[in-house]
Amino acid sequence: MADEIQMRRRVILGTGGTIAGRASRAGDNVGYVAGQVGVADLLAGVPPLAGLALEVEQVAQIDSKDMGFAVWQLLAGRVAHHLARDEVAGVVITHGTDTLEETAFFLQQVLQPAKPVVLTCAMRPATALVPDGPQNLLDAVTVAGDAAAHGVVAVCAGQIHAAQHVTKVHSYRTDAFDSGDAGPIGCVEEGVLRLFHPWPAQRSAGSFDTAGLARIQGVKALPRVEWLNSHADADGTLVRALLALAAQEPERMPRGMVVAGTGNGTLHWSLMEALSEAQAAGVRVVRATRCARGRVVPAGQNRFPEVSDLSPAKARLALALALLEV
Ligand code: SIN
Repeated sequence: MADEIQMRRRVILGTGGTIAGRASRAGDNVGYVAGQVGVADLLAGVPPLAGLALEVEQVAQIDSKDMGFAVWQLLAGRVAHHLARDEVAGVVITHGTDTLEETAFFLQQVLQPAKPVVLTCAMRPATALVPDGPQNLLDAVTVAGDAAAHGVVAVCAGQIHAAQHVTKVHSYRTDAFDSGDAGPIGCVEEGVLRLFHPWPAQRSAGSFDTAGLARIQGVKALPRVEWLNSHADADGTLVRALLALAAQEPERMPRGMVVAGTGNGTLHWSLMEALSEAQAAGVRVVRATRCARGRVVPAGQNRFPEVSDLSPAKARLALALALLEV
């Protein structure tokens, strides 16, 4: 069985991140530049990958804090291209940790792949005394070769997380990701998968959702959706500034606003007043929670009845993608 997995062809797409980061001193785990080492060199640094049927392609070379729609569009196109090849069992994407969950969610929503698409990363640069990238990359390639796997997942620190649930929860530790209340799908132990949950349910009939890809390829940008927070002393300054700007430059008008509320999606009354003005101007307002765990549980009447059970970062993307259809 293990041999069968080893023979399956996988494509590794590089996009940058700390996994490809370089520091001037080996002991420096934070003062490095992300996105320096090419994806082919990353693979060359993992001896157990030698001899496997792997292809590499450098799609981008960035610090993922700078991720945006143009790279997502390109990446989705390349992932789809390889998924459509019969001989390809799965795709691995090396990515920065900072927006990995957004890229994973975007690709799952757009492509709903019927084969595995595995994002992996590192919290220590390639030049670190003990880099975590090589083991993560090896585990990701293993998951991408699993015949039962499908959908977009993230593999980091030995855990497999669904795109829907994965969130970066730590700024420094090497096990920086968590799947909240859902927990990880499973783990990889010495090249063997142990599953705790089934693979994600959403799955297209072909190798990916061709209509989903066409939708994002036909546009220059996603509909503008802003992400705001409610907090002590919050007020409507930002919301009103956005509306005032849009009055001057209509193309800046947000189509939606995701507001990360306190607790169960509650909002400071002052911010709520301004959001009502935005809503009256045609902006869709969606409430999420700024709590690390849980969701907004719908409760009675609310001026903003639309709620999301996603993190604010993913709720912003979900709303932007939904607005593409409108
Ligand atoms: C990045 O997200 O590209 C930099 C940080 C990291 O990968 O940990």
